[in-house]
Amino acid sequence: MEQAIIINGSPRVGANSDAIAAFAKKHFAEHGIDAVIYNIRDMKIHPCVGCDTCKGEPVCVFSDDATELITRLISAQRSLLVAPLYYTNLPGTVKVLIDRFYVNYDPWKYGGKRAPDPARRFGTVLTYGGSPEETALGAIELASYAWEDLGFGSREYVLCPMNIEKTSFSGNSEFQEETAGLVGWIAGAV
Ligand SMILES: Cc1cc2nc3c(=O)[nH]c(=O)nc-3n(C[C@H](O)[C@H](O)[C@H](O)COP(=O)(O)O)c2cc1C
Repeated sequence: MEQAIIINGSPRVGANSDAIAAFAKKHFAEHGIDAVIYNIRDMKIHPCVGCDTCKGEPVCVFSDDATELITRLISAQRSLLVAPLYYTNLPGTVKVLIDRFYVNYDPWKYGGKRAPDPARRFGTVLTYGGSPEETALGAIELASYAWEDLGFGSREYVLCPMNIEKTSFSGNSEFQEETAGLVGWIAGAV
């Protein structure tokens, strides 16, 4: 079975992002894809310290739960990030993971970003409360920029606003339909 990587960036257990990640996993399975969920809140990830050691050999000085995840993301065809909006952006725990993507970035060796592959598909499902849409788009932009750095050349997203209660996503057929559509699109990667 082919694989997809779902990253759940919510610190909150049993709420919208958990429901979205489980929903997406089920829908990936319907497309014959085994999706693995990584809950960032359960992972030990040391923040990047900017030592630039990885600009010699592309290996991080920290060996922790980000090491395997980033290695898998670099070679994955499909990935989905599920996250809440925290103060107009991704939660700090997700940003800590993203900063560790720097191990894969080498401006000296590759002249900046390596050319992303359009066949590799990445999606974001963002759940949030009452913020206007434009304040949510910074989170989408950050995720898109970071996953492009890992070589994902095609990127889409779904916004789930007014997800106030823990069970908002579970009770919203419109968001479920949009998320199922996004999963179907990611699954279509070749
Ligand atoms: C620290 C914190 C910051 C938040 N900041 C925003 C925000 O800027 N805009 C917004 O609309 N909702 C904000 N929210 C609400 C969450 O984005 C929303 O409840 C989301 O659905 C939570 O996802 P979860 O159910 O997976 O935990 C914030 C919540 C927390 C705990």
